[in-house]
Amino acid sequence: MTTRPAARGLMITLASLVVLAGASPAASESPAARAVDARQAGFKQIGAAFKAVNDELRAGKPDMAALAAAAARLESHAAQLPTWFPRGSGPESGAKTKARATVWADAAGFADAAANLKAQASRLNALTRDGDLGAVRKQAVQVGAACKTCHTAYRAED
Ligand code: HEC
Repeated sequence: MTTRPAARGLMITLASLVVLAGASPAASESPAARAVDARQAGFKQIGAAFKAVNDELRAGKPDMAALAAAAARLESHAAQLPTWFPRGSGPESGAKTKARATVWADAAGFADAAANLKAQASRLNALTRDGDLGAVRKQAVQVGAACKTCHTAYRAED
């Protein structure tokens, strides 16, 4: 007796699903968990770039090239930020995220907060090329305020 073609097809499909599910740890993660991992990695890069800016500013004689490079990285990560929040990657997904549901419920406000960071980081980047350290320092404070404004409204407390 032979297996009917339809049943055989189904068996092959099931077998390949089992293979796919076991392929790698990342493949077993939900799309929401993957999105959260990617955005937390992005924020770590934003954090590292901003720390590099502040470390240079605290140095007695800042390395202007390093300062400008860190500010450029910060601006480019800030430009990416709005793409890190796909719908369905909020707390309702069960993924371990500190993003509040208000990110999506108040999408216009969140977009403004993201655009503000991008604008402040862009200004910082431009100022690092002028060599006026006083102006760079003041602008770094504005960038820090842009981080804080968004965290206060859209990120859950520790
Ligand atoms: C438009 C909103 C917004 C702006 C602006 C913003 N953040 Fe965040 N940040 C968030 C949210 C929301 C989370 C939580 C992400 C999650 O857990 O899914 C977060 C998380 C983080 C984290 C933790 C990442 C991790 O390891 O889990 C760091 C560090 C961070 N932000 C640094 C910064 C810095 C530094 C700035 C400014 C230069 C900044 N953020 C600007 C919204 C923002």
